[in-house]
Amino acid sequence: AARLQALAEPGTIVVAASTRRLLGDLFRLCDLGSHEVKGIAEPVAAWAVEGVSDSESRFEAVHAAGLTDLIDREDELDFLLDRQRLAWKGEGQIVLISGEPGIGKSRLAAALAERIAGEPHTRLRYQCSPYHTNSALRPFIAQLERAAGFTADETSEQRLDKLEAVLAMGASQVQAVAPLFAALLSIPFGKRYPPLALTPTQQRRRTLAALLDQFEGLARQQPILLSFEDAHWADATSLELLDLTVERVRQLPVLALFTFRPEFEPPWVGLPNVGSLTLGRLSSNDVENMVARVTAGRVLPVEVMKQIVSKTDGNPLFVEELTKTVLETGILVEDAEVYRLEGPLPPLAIPETLQDSLMARLDRLAPVREIAQLGAAIGREFSYSLVRALVGRDETALKHGLAQLEQAGLVFRRGEPPEAVYSFKHALVRDAAYESVLKSRRHQLHGQIARALEERFAEIVASQPEIVAHHFTEAGLVDPAIEYWLKAGVKAYSLYANEDAVRFFERALTLLKKLPETRDNLERAVDICFQLRNALLPLGKTDRILRSLDELDPILARLGDKQRSAQYSAFRCNHHFLIGQQRRAIEFGETGVRLARECGDRVVLGQSLFRLAQSYHALGEYRRAISLLEQGLEFNANELRHDRHNLNIIPSVLNRTWLAIALVECGDFSAGMRHARRALEIAEGAEHQLSKLLGWLSIGYVLSHKGEIAGAVGALERGLDLSDRWSFRVWRIRLVSDLGVAYARLGRAEKGLQLAEQAVSDGDKMQLIADKPRLLIRLGQVSLIARQIETALTLGKQAAAIAAVHEAKGDEAWARFLIGRAYLAASEPKNLDESEKQLDIALRLATACEARPLAAFCNTALCRIYARRGDQVRAKEVDAVATATYRELGMQPLPLDTTL
Ligand SMILES: Nc1ncnc2c1ncn2[C@@H]1O[C@H](COP(=O)(O)OP(=O)(O)OP(=O)(O)O)[C@@H](O)[C@H]1O
Ligand SMILES: [Mg+2]
Repeated sequence: AARLQALAEPGTIVVAASTRRLLGDLFRLCDLGSHEVKGIAEPVAAWAVEGVSDSESRFEAVHAAGLTDLIDREDELDFLLDRQRLAWKGEGQIVLISGEPGIGKSRLAAALAERIAGEPHTRLRYQCSPYHTNSALRPFIAQLERAAGFTADETSEQRLDKLEAVLAMGASQVQAVAPLFAALLSIPFGKRYPPLALTPTQQRRRTLAALLDQFEGLARQQPILLSFEDAHWADATSLELLDLTVERVRQLPVLALFTFRPEFEPPWVGLPNVGSLTLGRLSSNDVENMVARVTAGRVLPVEVMKQIVSKTDGNPLFVEELTKTVLETGILVEDAEVYRLEGPLPPLAIPETLQDSLMARLDRLAPVREIAQLGAAIGREFSYSLVRALVGRDETALKHGLAQLEQAGLVFRRGEPPEAVYSFKHALVRDAAYESVLKSRRHQLHGQIARALEERFAEIVASQPEIVAHHFTEAGLVDPAIEYWLKAGVKAYSLYANEDAVRFFERALTLLKKLPETRDNLERAVDICFQLRNALLPLGKTDRILRSLDELDPILARLGDKQRSAQYSAFRCNHHFLIGQQRRAIEFGETGVRLARECGDRVVLGQSLFRLAQSYHALGEYRRAISLLEQGLEFNANELRHDRHNLNIIPSVLNRTWLAIALVECGDFSAGMRHARRALEIAEGAEHQLSKLLGWLSIGYVLSHKGEIAGAVGALERGLDLSDRWSFRVWRIRLVSDLGVAYARLGRAEKGLQLAEQAVSDGDKMQLIADKPRLLIRLGQVSLIARQIETALTLGKQAAAIAAVHEAKGDEAWARFLIGRAYLAASEPKNLDESEKQLDIALRLATACEARPLAAFCNTALCRIYARRGDQVRAKEVDAVATATYRELGMQPLPLDTTL
């Protein structure tokens, strides 16, 4: 290469045939003709590199020139072409391509792309990397950045223009989704778009939806060939998006190829339109063909070929690398058509493993090895600007070194310095370079990288704090590492990526454990655990919440910090409430209230009173719940505090919602309606969507229990509309369930059944344990109206059993009432006794809970039983009690005709 370089004009790069092949169409080349080069018998064809071609993918660009040389894999390619034809007809296909590193997954995907290059289609590529396994949607972000063609020194305005141009290709309403995409790409958008004003979950959902829509928009224009590479490194959010994509793709002209290594177990196996390919090793024949390709047709000595075949064991990457190593070591002499061995083959001339082979190649590049090592410490990809910031001195030497790495085919480049980004040819090349760095030196390198990022790459620090955290961690600099993991966690949580947030917080906690147990560190541990809990909650990971809260016990005992202990108790109370352990929940709730009072923390006091009330409500102690909720009104604010323990619903709105529900249970409809209206008013004043939803839910709840069904439907539909527009999943379940009953009572039993069923299954999916009995009971009520009596009975029994275990007296009363009515509806004489028994229990429970409307309903149903038996006296008696209650409470009687 050095000799060839003598042909070069200053500032240009000259390459020979072998490199030209490696470069493929990555660069525009100018033919310099053939030249005599010292040490090589034949004249050598040389090319000058003029610039980078605008080809986008390093893999395909590099291999475009050699793609005709795909070895074997004909069956696999046919399979893909079959699928492609189906896909193009509108029956979207997914193909899962798996196999060990270097086996040719990416190559196969590229070969398909090459085959269909002539047909109009859109190509979308997503690449995962081991350094971003926890960075939400990184592959999608990178794809968008590439598609938009961002450069380093642009303003946000310029980037937004580019982003909009990209979005215009797929989205119908660019302005509507642009702020979501801008947030995803961490581009500040100032006043250009209205602020997003979404909760993290909403933003997450809407971003995923927008990405899918964008994708669908593209697919409607022309077919799409999508490749998602190295799914084993995908972050959780990307996997979720893939799930959605797999579903969406079925009606679209899309062929999606997902590649991954065997350790990944794809969740899509067996789904419709999903096919699988597992790539195996090449036969020794194919290996020989491949070697011939690398040697440009020159034949190797048999002995050498034999060793290559046996050592590489059919792995194409190893075949390429080992052959190159052998050619570079100088044990062979190059003739016109063959390579000769000068003497006997030295025993250790051919490395045993891919690692050794790569090391050997790096070693021979000694002068530039350091640059490779630095790059490897940065990651699979590294930017020119970062390397430049690190090596500081001599820019010419740096450029030269990088060019040499490129020529050796060890790294590929996109763009020109100073914009250039380099990536190692293969993850294993990066690993080999990294392994060759001494441990102590690695620490140093990572430290330097982290500091350089901090000082000069504000954008990366802001958009990917986890990268900085990673380097500080590897540098062994624990304090700043913790700080950045926390930043990454908070960012992920505040964006939408709860799973990523969990991992980041856990990294911070693990590191914190290495530090001395000073007061400050212990306090930090508690605070991080709280953040962890907040991120775990929406994931339904109750076990892990408990585990991490348990760990806090001894720490809090040592700290004796009332504020933190109060917060801890409030979280614990909520945890036990959610899993149906109300007695324990109440113990913690009471401690929380006491501690919060003692330290004067109004926020935690409001939270604790509320949580305690929830548990009493679950036990059917409605009056007690009401009194706690009324106290809570003083402490639960009318606005959202965006602190880390934020409930995401305006606290006073949440407080009033539960108050309305509990009051309704006791028959206090006017007070319930007052709180429901006020809740809506506060939410509307704050223009807070989720809180508005709760306002409508409360109003609908009051009205439907009062028997004003048409009004209830109106309110619940307003709530449902909000939940659909903003993807509020948890609250949607309750709305849908209430609405199901209301529809059924208005004569739309079919629709009612559908909604109530949906609520039960969504509740199961989201593990809403405490809500389960109610959801079952509602479905039972609707089934009864639809005359599905057996179903209603089964559901009632199921609900009663769960309620009994949880000591949920109020729920059990409703469940027994349902069972009683189902027996009554079955109208066989023996059922009458069973019905009476259940209704008696229901009445007793309802009375104990002070649930007057339900008690009145029980009496009305009992009246029916007595009347059927001909016991007019008792019938009149209970009817009078019920009627008096209805009148006093201003509610509609139980509609016997439709339901009994
Ligand atoms: N059938 C083949 N014919 C010719 N070359 C191949 C073939 N299969 C793989 N190669 C070459 O082997 C090298 C490794 O292949 P590739 O990058 O596709 O591996 P991979 O399976 O995607 O590995 P990883 O899991 O690390 O991404 C590439 O340089 C590729 O060009
Ligand atoms: Mg690959």
